[in-house]
Amino acid sequence: MTITETATAHASGNAATGKFKTERVSADTSPERAAAIYRDVLDAFKEIIHKHEVTYDEYRVLKQWTIDVGEYGEWPLWLDVFVEHEIEDVNYSRNSLTGTKGSIEGPYYVAGSPKLPATCTMPMRDKDRACTPLVFSGQVTDLAGNGLAGATIELWHADEDGYYSQFAPGLPEWNLRGTVECDEQGRYEITTIQPAPYQIPHDGPTGSFIESYGGHPWRPAHLHLMVQAPGKLPITTQLYFKGGEWVDTDVATAVKPELVLDPVPGDDGKNRVSYSFALDPAA
Ligand code: BEZ
Ligand code: FE
Repeated sequence: MTITETATAHASGNAATGKFKTERVSADTSPERAAAIYRDVLDAFKEIIHKHEVTYDEYRVLKQWTIDVGEYGEWPLWLDVFVEHEIEDVNYSRNSLTGTKGSIEGPYYVAGSPKLPATCTMPMRDKDRACTPLVFSGQVTDLAGNGLAGATIELWHADEDGYYSQFAPGLPEWNLRGTVECDEQGRYEITTIQPAPYQIPHDGPTGSFIESYGGHPWRPAHLHLMVQAPGKLPITTQLYFKGGEWVDTDVATAVKPELVLDPVPGDDGKNRVSYSFALDPAA
C-alpha cells in the first residue's frame, strides 16, 4: 500500500475547508443586491419543495446530509463540483471577452508556488518521473498575438494517483505546482507529467449525493492554470486531453472544446503539445 492510498474524502475535504477558511473572503455586495439574491434562493427552494411535495422524512434527510457535508469539510468540494461552473460562465463567458476561455478553479489551488524559469521542469518525485513526460510549450499573448513581457503561468495538477500536494498525506509540499516566469516574449516550455483522470473524493456525503442521482465521480485528466500579464485580465483555466476518458461527462461540467489538447508522442517517449494563451485587456 502506498502512502497516498490513505487519503480519504474526510481528510482531503477538511484540508480544502481549512485552506479556504484562512482566506477570510469578502465581497462588496450591496445590502439590496444581497437581499434580492437571498429572496431568489428561498423562492427556488419553495418551488422545488412544492414541485416534488417534499415529505418531512425527506426534509430530515436533507438536514442530516447538510450536517454530514459540513462535518466532512466537503462544502468547498461540493460547491466547486456542482456550482462553480455556472459562476465561471456568468463572469467570464461574456461576449466582450475574446481571449482564451477560462474554467473552474476547483478547491486545490494554493498561492505562492515556487518560481520557475521559462524553460523548466515541475517539482516532482522520482515516482512521478517514472510517468510519461509532457512537454507543454507556447506563448502568452495579447488579443493581436503579440507576446507579453512579465507574463506568469501558475500550473498545478494531480499526480498519477489523482492526488494534489497539500491535500493528501505524504506528498512534498509543492509537488506538481509551480509559477513559471515566461520570457520577454511570453514564451514558456514546461516539462511535467501526463496527468491521469481523477475521481473527486467520493467516500463521503458528496459521493453519496453523486450515487443518489446515478452519476459518477470522475473528472477527465487535466492541468490547472492561472495566467497573468501586466495590464491584462488574468485567467484561471484548465486544459484537457483529446479522446481522454470522461472528457464528455466531467462530473464538474468544466470542459470546453477550446481547452482540449492533442499531444503528440515523441520518439524519446515524451508527449509534446503547444498551446498559447491570449489575454483580454484588463477592464
Ligand atoms: C478539480 O479540478 O480538481 C476539482 C474541481 C472541482 C471539484 C473538485 C476537484
Ligand atoms: Fe483538478
